[in-house]
Amino acid sequence: MLAVKVPKREAEKIRRKLIELGVLAKGYSPKREGNFVLFPVEMPVEGFELVEAEFEKTERRPHSYREVVEVPDEIKPLLPSSFDIIGDIAIIELPEELMDYGKAIGEAILKVHRHIKAVFAKGSKVSGEYRIRELIHLAGEKRTETLHRENGIRLKLDIARVYYTPRLATERMRVFERTQPGEIVFDMFAGVGPYSILLAKKAKLVFACDINPWAVRYLEENKKLNKTPNVIPILGDVRKVAGQIKADRVIMNLPKFADRFLKEAMMSVKSGGIVHYYGFGPEEDLFSEHEQKIKAVARELGFKVELLDERRVRPYAPRQFNIAIDFRVWK
Ligand SMILES: C[S@@+](CC[C@H](N)C(=O)[O-])C[C@H]1O[C@@H](n2cnc3c(N)ncnc32)[C@H](O)[C@@H]1O
Repeated sequence: MLAVKVPKREAEKIRRKLIELGVLAKGYSPKREGNFVLFPVEMPVEGFELVEAEFEKTERRPHSYREVVEVPDEIKPLLPSSFDIIGDIAIIELPEELMDYGKAIGEAILKVHRHIKAVFAKGSKVSGEYRIRELIHLAGEKRTETLHRENGIRLKLDIARVYYTPRLATERMRVFERTQPGEIVFDMFAGVGPYSILLAKKAKLVFACDINPWAVRYLEENKKLNKTPNVIPILGDVRKVAGQIKADRVIMNLPKFADRFLKEAMMSVKSGGIVHYYGFGPEEDLFSEHEQKIKAVARELGFKVELLDERRVRPYAPRQFNIAIDFRVWK
C-alpha cells in the first residue's frame, strides 16, 4: 500500500500532520526502516517521499467486556451494559440467569479493563442499619479494600464493610458548590466521608457522624489522607449528638430512613441554616410525601421551613428515584 517515508526524528510531527490532513490510513501500524518511519496513507500527499510498502493490521482493542465474554449466544442479550467501578474493583448486577456465567463475565471485565483488579457481583440489596450488601466474588483478587478518587479527594474504603456509591459524585459536588467558606457542617450519616471530606475543603468545621465502626475507621484514615483536620468524626447513633451541634448546613444522606431523623436535623441547624434531605420517591409524585413530612416536623417543633430546591438525584428502582430536597429552617 501507499506510504509516506519520513526521518525518524520528524515522525511524530508528521504523523499529526497526516491526521490533520485526514490521509493517514486507519487500522495499520506504522513501520520502522532504519532511520525512517513509514506511515500508510489513503492517497498521495504532496511534499513527502512516497513509497510502496506492506503494513500489519493493528488489533482493535475491545471497548466492552460484552465483545469478549465467553457465554452462549442466547444469553448475550441479558449481559448488563454497565457496572460500578470503585477504585480498582468492579461491582456488577447480574440477573439470576447469568449467575452461572459469573466467572466468565468477571474474567472478561478484567481482560478489557486493565486497571480493574477484582470483580464482584451484587449478592443482595443494600440493607440493615449500616446500608451494606452481600458481594459474590467473580474474578481477580479476593480483596474488598480499595482507594477511590472522587471530586479531587481520595477515599479508602472496604466495599464489603461500608456503604459507598460512586453514583452520588455529582450530587456531592452540587452540595459543595452551595457550601460557603467558614460554615459549620453536620454530616449526619457520613459513611467514609465523601461529603464530609469534600466539604471540609471549604467549610470551617465538619461534624461527621456514623454508627458503623468500619465507616468511622475509614473516615479517620481519609481525614489524614486528604489533610482535612477540620473533620470531626463521631462514632455512634446520630440521635445521641443531634441538638448538641448547631450547624449552618446539615446533610441527611440516609434516603431509606431520613424522614425518621427530621427532628434531629432541625434541632441541629441554626436559624436560617440549610438541610439537604434525601429520600426515595415514585416517578409520578416524587416529592409530595417528603414535603409533607418535613412541614409536619417543623410545625411540631414550632419552626418554619422554606423549600429551596427539589431534584431527582438518580434512578433507584423501576419508576423510583433517589430525590433531594434542600430547605431552610427558621426558628
Ligand atoms: C446511605 S449511607 C451514606 C454514607 C455517605 N454519606 C455516602 O454518601 O457514601 C448511610 C450511612 O448512615 C449510617 N447510619 C445509619 N443509621 C445511623 C444512625 N442512627 N446514626 C448514625 N449513622 C447512621 C450507616 O452506617 C451508613 O454509613
